[in-house]
Amino acid sequence: MTLPKHIAIVMDGNGRWAEARGEPRTAGHRAGIEPVRQVIRECVQLGVSALTLFAFSSENWRRPETEVATLMGLFMEALDREVEELHANRVRLRVIGNRQRLAVRLQQRIAEAEAKTAGNDGLCLQVAVSYGGRWDVVEAAKRLAARAASGALRANDIDEELFAAELQLAGLPDPDLFIRTGGDHRVSNFLLWNIAYAELYFTDLLWPDFDATELQRAIEDFTGRERRFGLTGTQAGATKPSGSTAGGSKK
Ligand code: FPP
Repeated sequence: MTLPKHIAIVMDGNGRWAEARGEPRTAGHRAGIEPVRQVIRECVQLGVSALTLFAFSSENWRRPETEVATLMGLFMEALDREVEELHANRVRLRVIGNRQRLAVRLQQRIAEAEAKTAGNDGLCLQVAVSYGGRWDVVEAAKRLAARAASGALRANDIDEELFAAELQLAGLPDPDLFIRTGGDHRVSNFLLWNIAYAELYFTDLLWPDFDATELQRAIEDFTGRERRFGLTGTQAGATKPSGSTAGGSKK
């Protein structure tokens, strides 16, 4: 089975999961922690190189104050509780996004967890908090512009490689499998640059109902896709997963 090297997940549907049970939306976010643990564990077991989870978007700051506060509390609790196990499993944890908007205490915990796991050679786990794909691209552009203005770089030398090196996922392979739960078929400003050639997988399951078996289902679906990267089917043959029977899409 050809494994994806990098899986990106939009974990959607926590609020609806809770509302369907007559519970506050925040109960859905709490219930969303167990699938996060299962997905991380499964990626470690399968030997997936990188996993990037969309936990809180730039736009989520506009949610009711109590919901934002609950989510921030959950991130803090999860960091405190899980970092030892992540470390023991050689996971390297990084938070991507505009962390300056986070409480200083949370920023400190994140920095500590990142420093503790920085030398690990297992799964690269990125948690996107206060992240937006457009923000990521604009920040990269600003850094390159500053280097150009200082004379350290010629504008004409900027190419895709140089640009990608300024993005939050610099140094990692692009996600090849993009999963979104919750029934909506959109990318919602997640990793816009990096998912250019990702295979998209959508499921109606709400995030708290997602688990390791559902991740395996998504990976199995991925292995059946024909990835052409803009080439013809014959040219791209080398990239076709063995045992693939699916026709694939045009691009
Ligand atoms: C989207 O569901 C989910 C979020 C905004 C939060 C995701 C957070 C977790 C899964 C908690 C734990 C995460 C970590 C990394 C510790 P929604 O609220 O948009 O649901 P809805 O579409 O049904 O309203």
